Amino acid sequence: MTRARVAFVLLLGFCSVVLMSCEEEQNATQPSSVLNEPDFATPEYIVPCSRKDPKIDSCFQNTLIHLRPYLVKGIPELELPPIEPLVIPEMKIENGQGPVRVRAIFTNITAIGPGNFSISKIRINMASYRIDIHISFPKIELQGNYDINGNILLFPIQSHGQFWALLGDVAAIARVQGVEEVKDGVRYLTIGKLLIDFKLGRIRFRVTDHLNGDNVIGQAMNQFLNQNAHEIVEELKPAASASIGKHFKDFLNIAFSKIPLKVWMHDT
Ligand SMILES: *[C@@H]1O[C@H](CO)[C@@H](O)[C@H](O)[C@H]1NC(C)=O
Ligand SMILES: *[C@@H]1O[C@H](CO)[C@@H](O)[C@H](O)[C@H]1NC(C)=O
Ligand SMILES: *[C@@H]1O[C@H](CO)[C@@H](O)[C@H](O)[C@H]1NC(C)=O
Repeated sequence: MTRARVAFVLLLGFCSVVLMSCEEEQNATQPSSVLNEPDFATPEYIVPCSRKDPKIDSCFQNTLIHLRPYLVKGIPELELPPIEPLVIPEMKIENGQGPVRVRAIFTNITAIGPGNFSISKIRINMASYRIDIHISFPKIELQGNYDINGNILLFPIQSHGQFWALLGDVAAIARVQGVEEVKDGVRYLTIGKLLIDFKLGRIRFRVTDHLNGDNVIGQAMNQFLNQNAHEIVEELKPAASASIGKHFKDFLNIAFSKIPLKVWMHDT
């Protein structure tokens, strides 16, 4: 009996120490956790949802549908450049294993077609800030400069020049892990993790190598790329997804840091 009681008291003591240290830690790491959120104006491009909405998924889908034309033109106050066309200054893809081992740098990428996205499905959990968005694009046309080194299906490749690609029926899933941050008493959502996965219906490539140009080697390379397009894309998918995810995480976090959480997600 006494032993059990001692154990119980110890356990209680342990628990309260744990609780206290948790509390202290909270105060230490979130000195601004005391909220002070005025009634912000709602910009015209936002249709807010409520955390308590039992149909929050379809509400948030509407938010994104409403936002689309604004994203197409860009939202200067959120530092969001237009997504139609979408210009990506630089993207690196490195893959060190498998049949496609390359280091590729794409620069001055222009994408035509991202603005025609549609949202096929959304799952949003505001308790854990987990958001899954299924997006599809009928067609995306890409062009830009490339510099690539490595091996593609046993062929050594060293090439730089211009590329053009046509992607048809692109289905992507973006899995967002959000993190709530409090700045000067105001909550913001930032993206902690953004995982992208995608499937391509059709792919066409064309590259113009600055060294080989439009000669036989250049034509052979284009034929080779197109004949193996799906396999090459499949091999590069993890590296490409990581690179795309990183780009859009940075891109979106700038916007999220300018728009308080409460503006697009009401508490009641
Ligand atoms: C944490 O902060 C709250 C409110 O600012 C205060 O009431 C509480 O005593 C603090 N807790 C600790 C362990 O300092
Ligand atoms: C970037 O691409 C655009 C459109 O394709 C082109 O007009 C521009 O000259 C390019 N800039 C550079 C630095 O290559
Ligand atoms: C977007 O879709 C519309 C309607 O289907 C089409 O007319 C337009 O050409 C598309 N835009 C791009 C850039 O693909």
